[in-house]
Amino acid sequence: MSKRFLAVLGATVLALGLTACGGEGAGGGGDTSAEKPADLTIGVAMPTQTSERWIADGNSVKQKLEAKGYKVDLQYAGDDIPTQSQQVDQMITQGADVLIIAAIDGTALSGQLQAAADAKIPVIAYDRLIRESPNVDFYVSFDNYKVGVAQATALLVGLGLQNKDGSKGTAKGPFNIELFAGSLDDNNAHFFFDGAMDTLKPFIDDKSLRVKSGQTSIEQVAILRWQQETAQKRMEDLLTSSYNDGTKVQGVLSPYDGLSRGIITALQNAGYGGSGAKMPVVTGQDAEIASVKLINDGVQHSTIFKDTRLLAEQAVIAAEAFLQEKEPQANDTKTYDNGVKVVPSNLLPVQTVYKDDIKPVLVDSGYWTAEEVASGQAKG
Ligand code: GAL
Repeated sequence: MSKRFLAVLGATVLALGLTACGGEGAGGGGDTSAEKPADLTIGVAMPTQTSERWIADGNSVKQKLEAKGYKVDLQYAGDDIPTQSQQVDQMITQGADVLIIAAIDGTALSGQLQAAADAKIPVIAYDRLIRESPNVDFYVSFDNYKVGVAQATALLVGLGLQNKDGSKGTAKGPFNIELFAGSLDDNNAHFFFDGAMDTLKPFIDDKSLRVKSGQTSIEQVAILRWQQETAQKRMEDLLTSSYNDGTKVQGVLSPYDGLSRGIITALQNAGYGGSGAKMPVVTGQDAEIASVKLINDGVQHSTIFKDTRLLAEQAVIAAEAFLQEKEPQANDTKTYDNGVKVVPSNLLPVQTVYKDDIKPVLVDSGYWTAEEVASGQAKG
């Protein structure tokens, strides 16, 4: 049982006129700075195990914390909001000393976060900002706007409208494209889409790109919970509704590899990538192994690599700072307004991965082995 947990009991202890154990309790400050790691527990709440990136995130955070001697309570919520709320509630009542949370719905945890604040448990939002709560103490993520810019740029490069160095490409278009966005309840989805649309807009305006379906608002193109099947269904519907006159779709902005795979399946089922029509330029994100294989095989065009090992490391550094009663170091104190406050953030850079980048960026850094890329499966 940690001192922070004892701090929760502090009021009772004080009411009884007793001295709290270990000098803890007066004022309920929950000071953990003198505690041994083995007496401290970090609660780690992750959204889902259906996406391998979150499995990698959870494992990395757990391993790094355990290597430092901390106890870790790692929970996955199967993308179910009540389950995640319950898991976080339980972490609090079981005496977590810090919470690291990758939220399913960025606005659904206010009650839990209030309970955490009351118990003086610092909360770190992991990759996804938790919104509408004053009780988010820190945010670790990537530069999410730049992810969107990079995705749109990869689309432009794939179509030949731009070169990798940012110069104008030789292609003229017009190209038919379709747009996808992530889950509206995930703050990141909005950043990705904004970054992408700011980049694509000049090309839509000068008509070198045409969104044939006319669906260009985030509400029209969002995919709830980032579900692969929903993306596949939407792509099928788009092909039926907007491409049944023989015209072909040439590019698809996809913000996440899971969606990209659904989109690609729909396209393949409709004959794209076979003898009928060229596979459109499809973007992605997360360098999930199944998609890295598709990129290697020339099916998916690109992904955005966000090194979850580095993100996990930042989460651990932030957690340790809080445990030592210090403020973690932020490199951004302006961008992430969660509706109640601007949350100090540490944002990591991102990297576009095309086929040629798989070896130098993903294999040589040990993120995936060459065998995993060839098989499309993580060895675990
Ligand atoms: C976002 C995250 C993306 C992707 C997506 C679906 O919040 O930033 O990298 O993983 O969720 O899981």
